[in-house]
Amino acid sequence: MNRAIEFFAQQFDRQIDAHDYTLNVFEQRVLPHLQGDVLDLGCGLGNLAIAAAERGHRVTALDACNRAVEDLQRRARDRSLPIEVGWADLADWSATTTYDSVVSIGLLMFVDCPTALRALEEIKRSVRPGGVCAVNVLIEGTTFMKMFDEYRHCLFAPECLVASFADWTLLDHRIEDFAAPEPGKIKRFATIIARRPGAAASR
Ligand SMILES: C[S@@+](CC[C@H](N)C(=O)[O-])C[C@H]1O[C@@H](n2cnc3c(N)ncnc32)[C@H](O)[C@@H]1O
Repeated sequence: MNRAIEFFAQQFDRQIDAHDYTLNVFEQRVLPHLQGDVLDLGCGLGNLAIAAAERGHRVTALDACNRAVEDLQRRARDRSLPIEVGWADLADWSATTTYDSVVSIGLLMFVDCPTALRALEEIKRSVRPGGVCAVNVLIEGTTFMKMFDEYRHCLFAPECLVASFADWTLLDHRIEDFAAPEPGKIKRFATIIARRPGAAASR
């Protein structure tokens, strides 16, 4: 298990014990933009996946943390929700199908930069024409590093996401600082929500 996944497994254990399944601020922002079939890559406890499925979306939710995958499988089963939950490591993930909405919140920074850039291209490739992509990453300026493997992480430059989605329609883009759970440290996030050019196929 790598350090990031170990970090989140411990955090998820605490949240599961406390029944804390609140949508985070990024998930809340993305939810109203979702359309059609949804992929949540790096879903964590799957709060967005559950909320999307409850709104009628067919959802695929993937993560490399067994604890998160098992807990989401249990919650989806208990609610009879149409969520396909699976284990996947971003390091060797590639898109095998396409979706109307692809979301990756807080994931790409947990691999090295060449892998993160490759994965970003795969994420974009998995969005159908007219579909929506939402990506959130920690970027340069972040000083809270506790959850990172020393050699396996990546902090994009601030404008990296906007540049990558230059030929898409920008729906939302923000750079935001949040206090970290370590005095004096911050987490700086870039978040983009963008629509792929082209008309959505009628289904
Ligand atoms: C910051 S959490 C975000 C979870 C969720 N998207 C959210 O917004 O609450 C990061 C997630 O990335 C997952 N993760 C870290 N490295 C990964 C990797 N190499 N492949 C797949 N998932 C990974 C962790 O297990 C964790 O669930």
